[in-house]
Amino acid sequence: MKEAELRETEDRLQAAAAPLASLADPTPGSELGAIRVPDGEAVFELSDVGVWYGNKHAISGINMQIPVRKVTALIGPSGCGKSTLLRCLNRMNDLIPGARIEGEINYHGTDIYAKKVDPVEVRRRIGMVFQKPNPFPKSIRDNVTFGAKVNRIKGTPDEIAERALRQAALWEEVKNDLSKSGLALSGGQQQRLCIARALAVQPDVILMDEPCSALDPIATLKIEDLIRELTKEYTIIIVTHNMQQAARVSDNTAFLLAQEHGVNGQLIEYGPTNELFTNPRDKRTEDYITGRFG
Ligand SMILES: Nc1ncnc2c1ncn2[C@@H]1O[C@H](COP(=O)(O)OP(=O)(O)OP(=O)(O)O)[C@@H](O)[C@H]1O
Ligand SMILES: [Mg+2]
Repeated sequence: MKEAELRETEDRLQAAAAPLASLADPTPGSELGAIRVPDGEAVFELSDVGVWYGNKHAISGINMQIPVRKVTALIGPSGCGKSTLLRCLNRMNDLIPGARIEGEINYHGTDIYAKKVDPVEVRRRIGMVFQKPNPFPKSIRDNVTFGAKVNRIKGTPDEIAERALRQAALWEEVKNDLSKSGLALSGGQQQRLCIARALAVQPDVILMDEPCSALDPIATLKIEDLIRELTKEYTIIIVTHNMQQAARVSDNTAFLLAQEHGVNGQLIEYGPTNELFTNPRDKRTEDYITGRFG
C-alpha cells in the first residue's frame, strides 16, 4: 500500500472509531481499553437476537447478558448455531453474503449494529481467534504488529510485539526468533501467536471459536491456562465441543440446541458453569452433558 493510501486508511479508521468511543463513554475511571469497567457489569446484552442465512433461520430468540472479565463458554451439538452467535458479537456475520441479524446487541450500552458504529472499530475492540491457527506468511514480529499500526497503537514494533507476546505466554519461546516466519512455529505456538495478534490492537473482548480443536492435549492445556490468565483483564467468549474444557476454563456456560432437524438454534440454558454441569435445570442440558446426544 502506498504511503498516501495508508494515511487515508488510517484517517478513515480513526474517524470511524470516534462514534463508538464517545457512545460507550465511560463514567470516570471506567473507560474501555485502558479503562476498567466495574466487575459484575455486562459487556454484552443480547435482546431477541436471531440470524438468518438467506431463508434459513439459523438461531432465534437469544436473550443473554455476558459479564465483564469472565469466561463464557458456548456449548451444544454441531449446527446449533454456536459460531453464528459468536460471529454476531463482533459483526463478523456482516462478511457472510446473505446473513441478516435481528434483535439487538448492546456492547457496553451501545448497539453495535447502529448506523453510526463502524464495524472495523467493533472488530478491533472485540477480537477473534479461530479454530485453525492462521498466522500470516510473515515474521513473528510482523504477525503481531500487523493491525497495531493501522490502529495507531502506541509503541515501536518491537515494544508492541514484546508486550503482546508476553501476554500470550509466547515471549520466552520466540524472543530470539522474532524475524522467523510465524508459519515455522508449532500448532500450539501458532495459536498463541494468533492470540498475541488479537491482543496487540488492545481489545476488550476476545472471541474464540474452538481454539484448541486442532491442538494436542499439552498445547490445549497451555491455551486453557492462558485463557484463565487473560480473564484478569479481558472478557473471553469461547465455543467448545469439549465438556471438560468448558468446565475447566469457563465461569458461565450457555447451552444451545437446534431442537429438531431444520428448527433454528435456541438458548436452552445459561448460568454458572458449575451449576449447569452439576445440576442442570433442563432435561435437554442434562442429556447433552451426559453424552446422550451430540
Ligand atoms: N454461511 C452460511 N450459510 C448458510 N447457512 C449457514 C452458514 N453458516 C452456518 N449456517 C447454518 O446455520 C446453522 C448454525 O451453524 P453454525 O456454524 O453456527 O453451528 P455450530 O454450532 O457452530 O456448529 P459446529 O459445532 O459444527 O461448528 C447450521 O444449520 C448451518 O448449516
Ligand atoms: Mg462452529
